[in-house]
Amino acid sequence: MIFLDSSDPKEVKDISAWGVLSGITTNPLIIAKEGGNVDLEKRIKEVIEVSHGDVSVELTTETEKAMLEEASKYHAWNPSRICIKVPFSEIGLRVLHNLATRGVRTNVTCLMAFNQAYLAALAGATYVSLFSGRIRDMGYDASSIIQETRAILDREELESKIIVGSIRHMMDVNEALQYGAHIVTVPPAILRKMLWNPRTDETIREFNTAWANRGK
Ligand code: E4P
Repeated sequence: MIFLDSSDPKEVKDISAWGVLSGITTNPLIIAKEGGNVDLEKRIKEVIEVSHGDVSVELTTETEKAMLEEASKYHAWNPSRICIKVPFSEIGLRVLHNLATRGVRTNVTCLMAFNQAYLAALAGATYVSLFSGRIRDMGYDASSIIQETRAILDREELESKIIVGSIRHMMDVNEALQYGAHIVTVPPAILRKMLWNPRTDETIREFNTAWANRGK
């Protein structure tokens, strides 16, 4: 499955019309880059309006109490669509477990290793987000981390789904899916590249030219 890694309502609307998206992920960096000093509630509600599936909104506070309050605020915006993105840490795990116990959907984020993803899954995450590009920046092999994580989820029948994010190239999407990601969250620019193949364009042109010139 594919999620869109964007908070831009226009991109979300355009690409949702392709019928390929199952959800949206945002993060504070994406929102700051795409929207500047936006009203977060307004922005997320606009994204919800033009998409379907879970919309992940990330917590930015750092104490357990503040994170739980922040989560309640976001969840109330649309309880059936908002998925709380919880940055991984010891406090993050406690917050995640608290939210999961109350049936709130969660996306544990900034995961760079198998062991972190396993802990998040055990604590009840709806999604565990492995950051492919950032893992590779550190010189580690993202594919084997995805594969090992998928194997343990399957073996222990844990319900979490793997999202692979931090996608930098089209091949990252293919590899993530081949190695066991349930979902890849893809930035709009890379998703658009997935449409393009010169041989496809050339073939369509050949067919349409033949049709236009038929009988001549
Ligand atoms: C995933 O949910 C994150 O939004 C995203 O993919 C982060 O990746 P990046 O900051 O390395 O691009």
